[in-house]
Amino acid sequence: MTTPGYRDMPPETWDPDASVDFAEAEEFLRMCYGDNSKLGSVEPRLAVVRAQIAATGTYVHTPDELAYGARVAWRNSSRCIGRLYWRSLVVLDRRRARTPEEIFALIVRHLCMAGGTAAANREPGAIRPVISVFPQAQPGRPYARIWNEQLIRYAGYRDVNGGVTGDPRAVRFTESMRDLGWRGKGDAFDVLPVAIETPAHGVRLFELPERAVLEVPLVHPEYAWFAELGLRWHAVPAISNMRLTIGGVHYPLAPFNGWYMGTEIGARNLADPDRYNMVPVVAKMMGLDTSKPRTLWRDRALVELNRAVLWSFERVGVKITDHHTESDRFLAHIGNEAKAGREVPADWSWIVPPMSGGATGVFHRYYRESDERPNFYLDADARALAIHGHRAHVAHPEETAPAAPPEQQRRIPTQPIPPAAPSRMLPSPTLRPACPVRH
Ligand code: ARG
Repeated sequence: MTTPGYRDMPPETWDPDASVDFAEAEEFLRMCYGDNSKLGSVEPRLAVVRAQIAATGTYVHTPDELAYGARVAWRNSSRCIGRLYWRSLVVLDRRRARTPEEIFALIVRHLCMAGGTAAANREPGAIRPVISVFPQAQPGRPYARIWNEQLIRYAGYRDVNGGVTGDPRAVRFTESMRDLGWRGKGDAFDVLPVAIETPAHGVRLFELPERAVLEVPLVHPEYAWFAELGLRWHAVPAISNMRLTIGGVHYPLAPFNGWYMGTEIGARNLADPDRYNMVPVVAKMMGLDTSKPRTLWRDRALVELNRAVLWSFERVGVKITDHHTESDRFLAHIGNEAKAGREVPADWSWIVPPMSGGATGVFHRYYRESDERPNFYLDADARALAIHGHRAHVAHPEETAPAAPPEQQRRIPTQPIPPAAPSRMLPSPTLRPACPVRH
């Protein structure tokens, strides 16, 4: 389905009070049953769904519909370069979870499964794309949500002289977590607590256990000094504040993850001037002439930072991809989709990697920018919550969960917060044999 909501078209806002539009349900179900012959005829299913919507304002997906819908939502995510493997998304049906404790326990299981730390027969670092789908929104009723933008993110602390320790992007969110009673260590890579809000319990904070947070210490294949910078990054990027919509049904709590492309870390998270801003530091350590832009010291430092990211992940066996490989895969995906009679919706400004754009195939063409359903959406209030860690303006109280009484909001750590958690990093190659080193 092509809808407005792309770029210069006003985005379609979600009305949590509205009943499911039967036409949208029908369109999804016809596509789902058309693509999956084992599901049988769609007609009897449409009759049931029509009746459910008439009686309750919404309807309930079967597990097959949910899994298919979540995978197609990924396929339709026009900003994602990694969609070649959309069919392999592991869909965990968590629609029965209600309490913050239940939700948190399942979030931990999600991260362990995604990071390969869940089972004895899997290697830590064998990252798998996973989505956990929690209860759907019921029209006119408050719903559970996670405030964090990702399940794993680093805190940011503003210090007295205006600088920031940690991730500057997280400064306001971190302040709010501290107001809610969380105490971080104050280090550059402190994993934030997960803020889970449910209608019955308000917001509660949970500290992720070590086994859920796989991290990689960053070293460089040639520059020994690089390790001294003390950089690291987490292995699993898991977006936790986007609303999954399938056939007119909305799932505001449906965290999902893939594996990293190196540039996300090396050319953005650690490089952007308003993030960790490491490019000038690396350039200085490399002894580059930073007196004028045309020495291309930024570019040279950026390349080495990105080599360090890819090399470090590979050396400890954590799955990661580079932008050249991913560009080729994306073009292969476009080919596969064309064979299936589909055009791949894509946003050039997100698909082209943030370094060496023109050296990748995805740069040299344009894409159709269309908004197809099922899909994932970042609502304005979810975006604001993830930045500020609190509701700045609550326009319609009935649209949001009732605020918890202050004492309840402060009754946080259900999960005891360890004082100074030991490093969650993978053992360094001195403890565990490194992967074969490429030269
Ligand atoms: N760019 C985001 C980050 O660096 C992650 C977005 C999702 N990335 C992914 N490879 N699935 O944290």
